[in-house]
Amino acid sequence: MKAQTSHLQVLEDSGKFLIDDVAFFGRTLGEYEEMFHFEREDLRGKRVLDCASGPASFAAEAHIIGVNVTACDPMYEKRPDELFHWAAHDVALCLKNKDSKIDLFDPHLSEFADQFEAEKVRAMRNFRNDFAKGKADGRYVAGKLPNLPFPDDYFHLAFCSNLLFLYASSKFGGILNDDRFPFEFHMRAIFELLRVVKDEVRIYPIKGPNRPDSPMADAVVEALKEAGIRAEYVPVHFKDVAGANQMLRIFK
Ligand SMILES: C[S@@+](CC[C@H](N)C(=O)[O-])C[C@H]1O[C@@H](n2cnc3c(N)ncnc32)[C@H](O)[C@@H]1O
Repeated sequence: MKAQTSHLQVLEDSGKFLIDDVAFFGRTLGEYEEMFHFEREDLRGKRVLDCASGPASFAAEAHIIGVNVTACDPMYEKRPDELFHWAAHDVALCLKNKDSKIDLFDPHLSEFADQFEAEKVRAMRNFRNDFAKGKADGRYVAGKLPNLPFPDDYFHLAFCSNLLFLYASSKFGGILNDDRFPFEFHMRAIFELLRVVKDEVRIYPIKGPNRPDSPMADAVVEALKEAGIRAEYVPVHFKDVAGANQMLRIFK
């Protein structure tokens, strides 16, 4: 499998925030609560999938408080030293380049830039401390959308943050320079996430920083409705990039 972050670059292009690969970048449990509009107590007794989880500390922090989270990401097949190298590389690169495009991020972010950065570093450290034990326990699983290594209906719910919609091509509202995650990929990935849950899938964010709409999300929601699947946009508190203040709930 290709090392997904080996060539990560932030591209200069008419003021957009554009990158050439998916960043191995992760957030904390507190940030997951804001992105997906839940409180940690809501997850007690549930089996939760986080895909694509990257170097997030959601699974690590959830484990400490007795919440059952499985983290899944294609990068987890790599050796831990390689994984931690790419996490440090990508987190530093994204934080550095954010500053040159700050107008594409939420205005409140410049006031809380130190806190924002500290959260990402904390996420990475907690992920690193938990990964070896968690992988041995089956809490970190290598897997890649749109084909996940889990049985049907295995989880109660799945969270998918900062991959779908965000990494659509910039033509369709995302931040990627190419169209490696086209509409068909989004549909297959969502049907796969629905296959492995009993209740629902939540996806955040809907919109990227480069434009006020997301043609990809609108096309996906329309296609889901045509397939008889209920999907609704829900406002959430979290927004680090401009306009990313909604998640999508998709009900099985
Ligand atoms: C920006 S990180 C998001 C991490 C975390 N969910 C968060 O919100 O902080 C995106 C992740 O998507 C992973 N990824 C890339 N392609 C994928 C695929 N086809 N299926 C699942 N994950 C993928 C990358 O390895 C990376 O860790």
